[in-house]
Amino acid sequence: MPKVTFLPSGQSIEIDEETTLREAAHLLNVSVHDRCGGMGACCNCIVTIQEGQENVCPKSVVEEAVFYLSPNDRLSCQCRLTGDVVVKTI
Ligand code: FES
Repeated sequence: MPKVTFLPSGQSIEIDEETTLREAAHLLNVSVHDRCGGMGACCNCIVTIQEGQENVCPKSVVEEAVFYLSPNDRLSCQCRLTGDVVVKTI
C-alpha cells in the first residue's frame, strides 16, 4: 500500500488507493486546515507534495480551478495515491 509521510512532524501511514491525503492526515491527527469536510469547497486543505509527485492522481477539476495552487500543491481532500509520497502541510 502507498505510504504517506507528513512534514514537519515526520508521521507516516500506509493507506489504500481510495483514501485521500486529508483522510490519512486525520488518521494521524495531522491538521490540514480543512473547512468544508472534504467536499472540495473551501480550498483550504492545501498540502505540498515534496517527494513522489509521480505517485499522486491527476489534479481534479476543482484543483485546476484554484489559481493559487503551485504545481506541487494539492487539495488534500482531492488527492489519492498510487505510491509513496512525502507531503508538507501548511
Ligand atoms: S477540505 Fe475543503 S477543499 Fe478540501
